[in-house]
Amino acid sequence: MIYRLGDFHFPDDPARLYPGTPTRPWVLEIGFGDGRFWPHYARTFAEAPNYLGVEISGTSLLKAHRRLKDAGLDNAILTKLPAEVLLPGVIPPASLDAIVVNFPDPWPKAGHEDHRLLRVPFFQQAASRLKSGGAVLLTTDHEEYFEFACAQAEASGVMRVERTEPPAAALETKYALKWRDLGLGANHARFVPTAPTPATFLPFAPYLESEPNVPHAVLTLPADFAPQAFQKQTVRGPHWTVVLLDLYATLRRGGWVALAHVVEGDLTQEVLVGITEREDGTHLVRLAKFGGPIITPGVKAAVGAVTEWLEREGAAVKHRGY
Ligand SMILES: C[S@@+](CC[C@H](N)C(=O)[O-])C[C@H]1O[C@@H](n2cnc3c(N)ncnc32)[C@H](O)[C@@H]1O
Repeated sequence: MIYRLGDFHFPDDPARLYPGTPTRPWVLEIGFGDGRFWPHYARTFAEAPNYLGVEISGTSLLKAHRRLKDAGLDNAILTKLPAEVLLPGVIPPASLDAIVVNFPDPWPKAGHEDHRLLRVPFFQQAASRLKSGGAVLLTTDHEEYFEFACAQAEASGVMRVERTEPPAAALETKYALKWRDLGLGANHARFVPTAPTPATFLPFAPYLESEPNVPHAVLTLPADFAPQAFQKQTVRGPHWTVVLLDLYATLRRGGWVALAHVVEGDLTQEVLVGITEREDGTHLVRLAKFGGPIITPGVKAAVGAVTEWLEREGAAVKHRGY
């Protein structure tokens, strides 16, 4: 099953995600690529653990989805998100039995280490999300990244490093086969939490649970409103940046739609904000459902940015619901 960010709860509950198999172990795989690891690994258990796979490539998502479906792995969820959003947003504390990372992007150039996943903040997040007895399982051909990851795990102060042999399934992934064909070996480490670690969450996670209203505003446009005056604009808040990229006229019902780019930490959303006329002649500025946006403070701010631009253009705001 494929989940979008908006399909999750923040944090979520494995019993809700896997209603048919709520008590099975839970494995998160980060960067599953074309999805070869899980069908191999799941076979080594009498009952397939619950699986959550996170990946940023849409093409990989579809390939893996097909593969897991063909393997009959029903208790498997795939999602297209950065792990840096999924882990602190969706995963509850002390809930995972394993976090699997096979052949992560090594970012080999000097000065690019900040792009690597396996750094101190990741290990601290991972330690807070693993159950007692759980571990992060890393397999990589890249010796320099392997040593870097081991050093970062030690530096996190919350992980013990055990250098061991990789599970056989980790040697069957697309990248494992690619490196094997080139005669390269694979390094494997288990990173085991050494102490209970307090969980931190995405700054807006509690907000997502408590905000049922779609952000909106009601206003009266000036008689001489000129939508062509729109210009690309950027608005910054404490934890978000909103860029209003463009404004489009809608043909079916009249009015306009603003396209906004919203960045909050590692989470980026593209959202549409509609401006439509109401029967009484006022206009409604409202977040559109299109694309299934999740209503974060940044998305609310996008509705605010459109409203405030219209205000600068002479609109009289009657109601703010953002
Ligand atoms: C080198 S490939 C390895 C793929 C697969 N694990 C394998 O062994 O064949 C690394 C994968 O990690 C994914 N990836 C990179 N950064 C990610 C992130 N922040 N969150 C989730 N996936 C990520 C990439 O899209 C890519 O598919």
